[in-house]
Amino acid sequence: MAEPVLEVREVSKHFPGTTALDHVSFAVRPGEVHALVGENGAGKSTLIKVLTGVYQPDGGQLRHLGEPVVFRRPIEAQRAGISTIYQEVNLVPLMSIAGNVFLGREPHSKGGLVDWRRIHAEAAELLAGYGIHTDVRRPLASLGVGAQQMVALARAVSTDARVVIMDEPTSSLEPREVETLFEVLNGLHERGIAVVYVSHRMDELYRVCDRVTVLRDGRNVHSGPLADLPRIELVSMMLGREIRDIREHGVTSFGEDHHTEAEPLLRAENLSSKHAIDDVSVAIRPGEVVGLAGLLGSGRSETARAIVGALPLDGGTVWLGGRRVPPGNVAAAVRAGISLLAEDRKTDGIIPSLSVRENIVLAALPRLSPFGLVSRAKQDRVVDVFMKRLRIKASSPDQKVAELSGGNQQKVLLARWLCTQPKVLLLDEPTRGIDVGAKAEVQALIDELAGEGLGVLLISSEMDELIDGADRVIVLRDGAVAGELSGGNVTEEAVLAAIAAAGEDADD
Ligand SMILES: Nc1ncnc2c1ncn2[C@@H]1O[C@H](COP(=O)(O)OP(=O)(O)OP(=O)(O)O)[C@@H](O)[C@H]1O
Ligand SMILES: [Mg+2]
Repeated sequence: MAEPVLEVREVSKHFPGTTALDHVSFAVRPGEVHALVGENGAGKSTLIKVLTGVYQPDGGQLRHLGEPVVFRRPIEAQRAGISTIYQEVNLVPLMSIAGNVFLGREPHSKGGLVDWRRIHAEAAELLAGYGIHTDVRRPLASLGVGAQQMVALARAVSTDARVVIMDEPTSSLEPREVETLFEVLNGLHERGIAVVYVSHRMDELYRVCDRVTVLRDGRNVHSGPLADLPRIELVSMMLGREIRDIREHGVTSFGEDHHTEAEPLLRAENLSSKHAIDDVSVAIRPGEVVGLAGLLGSGRSETARAIVGALPLDGGTVWLGGRRVPPGNVAAAVRAGISLLAEDRKTDGIIPSLSVRENIVLAALPRLSPFGLVSRAKQDRVVDVFMKRLRIKASSPDQKVAELSGGNQQKVLLARWLCTQPKVLLLDEPTRGIDVGAKAEVQALIDELAGEGLGVLLISSEMDELIDGADRVIVLRDGAVAGELSGGNVTEEAVLAAIAAAGEDADD
């Protein structure tokens, strides 16, 4: 076997109250795609940060090309040919797309000035290879999360990388973008570049990875080839339970469809907002899970945001239980009983400096306390229930949310909106970044709540989750409703066909 390009031996990393890495050894070889898996909070991101100079290990050794090495800062790892795409896009939103691609290594003209013309030309050409055709002088923020992730990827791969590390690269990508990513991965493999790949999506791992390392509670519990490792065995190693104790789930943990003839609970009629959605109508009955399907930029998130009043409307009305919900007023919508779990937890949700407890009860406080005072005991009860049910891993409810792993932050947000006890819950990518065990729990919970009469709008880029979870699917294209499927017609083929058919009359 070839010598590792990058390796850690017996590395440990402690945080107050947590041992994130406990004597972990791990090696990546040239040309391999090495999956790094484990439950939320298992230590994956921490290991990556040790490999890339973000964190200094408290013990153990880092080795590069067979020699001990110390990366004091991320730039030192980058210079050694280690490129990283983090779990959250960490580029500069207000800088141009091209500027982000060349950030920190801008070519200069003879006169010593930054050569913007070259930056724009090269960035445009590079990004075209990743399916991004847009004016690269526009700010990065003008792109959706998925496209931003592709920019991060293009940036990482275009540097002279020997190792490319990807922390959940596909969690915000469209199926089409995922395919592009896999082509890029193939190319890297052929060039002998090593890849470390973190993902909670089993299908993907088995498709693209050669080897796997399983972390559990900060320990390496297994490293070996992936292809012959049965899936159930992999899951059992991740969760630390015997195979016979693992429930045999289908692809998802949704149960039967919820059929209901009741009058709609929520009626969003003819919603329009400049450049985002055009005359979109959605009705949700009590106990019904309505899926929203569509490609990137089709207006799914915008529709959800419009319903809850987070997107200014040019026209349209939202009714809940026969009452008109005041437009453009999120607080009023929440009071009326509509809650939104937003797609981008960094900008739309998590308050990093507050504790887990505070983040969870934040939105429910007005309900928990009609008179302004909420007993700590009452808060504790609610927080305790959701921390257990969603298996939120934190040293205590008082730990700052910023210190939680990515998946656990997502669970905190979900808990926040669940404990507002909404009548209608809008879920934009509810299981993004959540590990297999907790994902099953979240899906079962959505199912259970729908069974109790909650109306749900479900947006998911995971086709299985959408098809299995939704009783009815509305297909959006270019901000408008392009079709609707219900009952036995809700199949993957039908949804994909609806998305494609709607595209036939367009020329882009
Ligand atoms: N800055 C920090 N301060 C305190 N604790 C931290 C910090 N960063 C991580 N931790 C803790 O270390 C453990 C491992 O976290 P890490 O982010 O590595 O998990 P992960 O495997 O990447 O999980 P996920 O799948 O949710 O992204 C968690 O218990 C987390 O709360
Ligand atoms: Mg992580």
